[in-house]
Amino acid sequence: MKNRVSLLSRVVRKTFLSSSWFLLEIQTTEICPAPGQFFMLFPENYSGSAILPRPISVYNTTDKSITFLIQVAGNTTRYFSKMLPGELIRITGPLGNYFPRFENPWLVAGGVGLPPVDFYKRRYSGTLFAGFSSVNELKHSDILQNIDYISTMDSSSDFKGTVVDLVEMKLIETTTPPCGIIACGPHGMLHSLHRLLLKHHIPLHVSLEGQMACGTGVCHGCAFKTTLGKYKNICSNGPVFPSNEVWK
Ligand SMILES: Cc1cc2nc3c(=O)[nH]c(=O)nc-3n(C[C@H](O)[C@H](O)[C@H](O)COP(=O)(O)OP(=O)(O)OC[C@H]3O[C@@H](n4cnc5c(N)ncnc54)[C@H](O)[C@@H]3O)c2cc1C
Ligand code: FES
Repeated sequence: MKNRVSLLSRVVRKTFLSSSWFLLEIQTTEICPAPGQFFMLFPENYSGSAILPRPISVYNTTDKSITFLIQVAGNTTRYFSKMLPGELIRITGPLGNYFPRFENPWLVAGGVGLPPVDFYKRRYSGTLFAGFSSVNELKHSDILQNIDYISTMDSSSDFKGTVVDLVEMKLIETTTPPCGIIACGPHGMLHSLHRLLLKHHIPLHVSLEGQMACGTGVCHGCAFKTTLGKYKNICSNGPVFPSNEVWK
């Protein structure tokens, strides 16, 4: 996609959904990212100790803004959570490739893997499964409304267990298994989903979360060895890969 921009832009709105999840809406010109693509975000006027641009997936767009759904993980995301409307932020993107289209896919998210698959469901369609450690804090927020099946590690949802356990249960119950599944979440979750879907002969495409410095294929800090023995950058060759390129 050739519409990449590097914009010094302004925060339009920040909305807390819980003590750690928030929506950050940034003013933009019209850009058309596809579900799975991401931006590198960098706060322009940060004056503390070293802070790097961070990759954040697109959650939503309008013709005047782009919205990111972020969970505070460390210093940079905490800094983003404190930004106020009008503050300057540099955004570079859309970067990376995007999820393939399947007919009636299942979409599987773990934690901060939710934004790109939720965006996919709103842009196209699909049945969305999402796993969280708990949804107590998110119960009254709109972000749960687009999710069809939720799993949690505590008793705050109807299904206690991992999202992969939930997908496995639904695959056993269904008479119409999906032609393809796309997923984003922690590495361990994606690997265990890959192992499950191998048994069911269902293609899986995963969006990998790697540590990134440049986000554009220059530093090779995010490179990994594929099952075919070649090195690929998560940022510029991905972040979306067929799972059989990542695991045997
Ligand atoms: C393509 C891509 C899209 C992403 N989209 C989103 C998004 O939409 N919303 C969102 O909240 N986050 C997203 N992330 C994750 C986000 O970039 C990291 O959480 C971010 O680096 C945290 O920065 P920080 O400085 O706040 O924390 P850091 O100080 O960088 O890290 C805090 C903790 O998280 C761990 N960590 C950081 N990054 C990763 C990672 N990628 N994988 C595993 N562990 C990690 C660190 O080891 C540390 O324990 C995405 C990551 C990638 C690669
Ligand atoms: S982060 Fe630099 S090559 Fe991927």
